Amino acid sequence: MPDGTSKRIDGRAISDEITKGISKQVQILKEAKITPGLAAILVGENPASKIYVKNKRKACQDTGIYFEEYNLPLDTTQGRLYSLIDKLNSKNDINGIIVQLPLPKHLDEKRITSRVACDKDVDGFCPKNAGLMLQGSYRLLPCTPAGIMELLRHENIKTEGKFSTVIGRSNIVGKPMAILLLHADSTVTICHRKTKNLKEICLKSDIIVCAAGKAGLITGDMVKKGAIVIDVGMNRDSNGKIVGDVLFDEVSKKASHITPVPGGVGPMTVAMLLKNVITATFLQNPHVPLKFNRY
Ligand code: GUN
Repeated sequence: MPDGTSKRIDGRAISDEITKGISKQVQILKEAKITPGLAAILVGENPASKIYVKNKRKACQDTGIYFEEYNLPLDTTQGRLYSLIDKLNSKNDINGIIVQLPLPKHLDEKRITSRVACDKDVDGFCPKNAGLMLQGSYRLLPCTPAGIMELLRHENIKTEGKFSTVIGRSNIVGKPMAILLLHADSTVTICHRKTKNLKEICLKSDIIVCAAGKAGLITGDMVKKGAIVIDVGMNRDSNGKIVGDVLFDEVSKKASHITPVPGGVGPMTVAMLLKNVITATFLQNPHVPLKFNRY
């Protein structure tokens, strides 16, 4: 592909398509007298988390999914959070539960996300769902990596035999992303804060997924011509504008495909959350014939 003609992957349009399918699934469930329900728990006042939860609420409203939001104060104790999760675990009108991350420092994120019943774990964070994913048996997958795989599939981008680099090693994005790419027959490298030769590794990569959370980390001279670049970053620049980890203008002159921020990966994360709510609802209602394409 000649310089300057990289394809901007429109995550918003792709997520809209998926969301239409979700609305149909909601209808099928409603005909069986089941309304899928999602509960979101937000602790404290993190402005980015508030926006994410607001987007999730809107997506549920648009598709007919019932939504409950629990806003807890910053000084909420581990015990208080456990009792809320326990209550939601046994609530019949709630099929999916998310605890918005990051949590305040005094709370134990791993224990709290593991408290969510695995059948309602629409983030795919609990040890059972994460372990099954590791073994290649997909049940409820973490939303951002699942959304990126969906973007690649939609754009007909083959991963088999490709050299893929994931930057970031979080439990939410980096690690599960690397596993999904590995299962899709990519040769995968994971880079992180301590990686010494990031540029060299990126220059060899056919696919780069950057989830470092550092504005401007990936520059044009780090990307091979024709590479696929997926930007998971969501940062604010000095003017308060939302930017990714990738310098879009420079990198789009080299890449064959690139995701913008905003409008790339973000909407796909929300679409995959809705998909997980539907999957979880079917898991909890095995008598309803599954007319849904799971992973
Ligand atoms: N914070 C940032 N991304 C996510 C996500 O996918 N799920 C949850 N629960 N919190 C997040």
